[in-house]
Amino acid sequence: MQPIYLDYNATTPVDPAVAAAMQPYIVQHYGNPSSTHVYGQTTKEAVERARAQVAALLGCPAADVIFTSGGSESNNTVLKGVVWTYRHKGTHIITSAIEHPATINPCRFLEQQGVQVTYLPVDYTGMVDPEDVRKAITPQTVLISIMHANNEVGTLQPIADISRIAHAHGVLMHTDAAQSIGKIPTLVDDLGVDFLSIAGHKVYAPKGIGALYMRAGCALEPLIHGAGHESGRRAGTENVVLAVGLGQACAIAQADLPRYQREVRQLRDLLWQELEKRFGDRVVLNGHPEQRLPNTLHVNFRGVIGAELLDRMPTLAASTGSACHAGEIALSSVLEAMHITPELGMGAVRFSLGRYTSRHDIDQVVALLEHAF
Ligand SMILES: Cc1ncc(COP(=O)(O)O)c(C=O)c1O
Repeated sequence: MQPIYLDYNATTPVDPAVAAAMQPYIVQHYGNPSSTHVYGQTTKEAVERARAQVAALLGCPAADVIFTSGGSESNNTVLKGVVWTYRHKGTHIITSAIEHPATINPCRFLEQQGVQVTYLPVDYTGMVDPEDVRKAITPQTVLISIMHANNEVGTLQPIADISRIAHAHGVLMHTDAAQSIGKIPTLVDDLGVDFLSIAGHKVYAPKGIGALYMRAGCALEPLIHGAGHESGRRAGTENVVLAVGLGQACAIAQADLPRYQREVRQLRDLLWQELEKRFGDRVVLNGHPEQRLPNTLHVNFRGVIGAELLDRMPTLAASTGSACHAGEIALSSVLEAMHITPELGMGAVRFSLGRYTSRHDIDQVVALLEHAF
């Protein structure tokens, strides 16, 4: 029996239709998209078709999308690019304490270069208060970067409100949508953002591909200098195979969005109801009760260590939010920022569901937990 996979926030399997779309570009169509002959035209068209598919999911012009190697590169491009490009204006960035390391660590690097970074707190549900954003803005602020959805607890941030505040103060707005893409709508105009990062492997495309939305007119110094690929915004011969995969994945994700909102959410809620029914107040939900990704269930199991609980269920693949080193419990920085106590957070487990999760999987996980907890 295959272990049950409830770790879709870590990565998703490649959709067979994505693999099929990529296949001709692995061997058959190998032209360099910059070449003007027919070999190049074929791959150039494939990349541009893929760009349009990504853009459709984001509700933006295709020209505003650049391909990157993933979420980390997209975030680094924005954070370092804005600081460099707008250094004459100011050197202050606002972000949150619960960002992914792909945001936190470029910020730490920039701090070493003299950039001032404000890490906003979150409440007990993992939410940033837009008022805190407003108060943190100074005349030096050039960028606000707040993730759309948190990868651990799934809490959704009020990005549209924060974007309005940013723009009222002439500040650029970025969101890391690596976790929200394909799970909830991610239309850039509704979110009001200037930059938005996505990662292919969270949306049933392969690892090592992503994209960055850059609103027209928000040109940045590129992270990777070289030839004029991606209209001079990201050098390097296009990764045709993976771009085609991401495009196809985005097209499927767009069609699949309603299913995430209904069926995946229902299965996620069913899992929580079953846990509550069986374990009562021995289980505590983390994250926002409503403003949360439809696939994510983050639970504290009281009185156990999350990793040990998962060790007792080798036929389940899920994640924990705490680590135990030499008898010391270390909570993830996200749970810490949410002021979850170590006694509670040590039993944290993240179940993240996806396209292939079935009712049978949920029943089995509940049965496994009945034995293991
Ligand atoms: C919220 C968030 N941002 C960024 C990343 C990094 O993406 P990638 O692995 O494609 O660099 C991840 C992946 O774990 C993520 O969850």
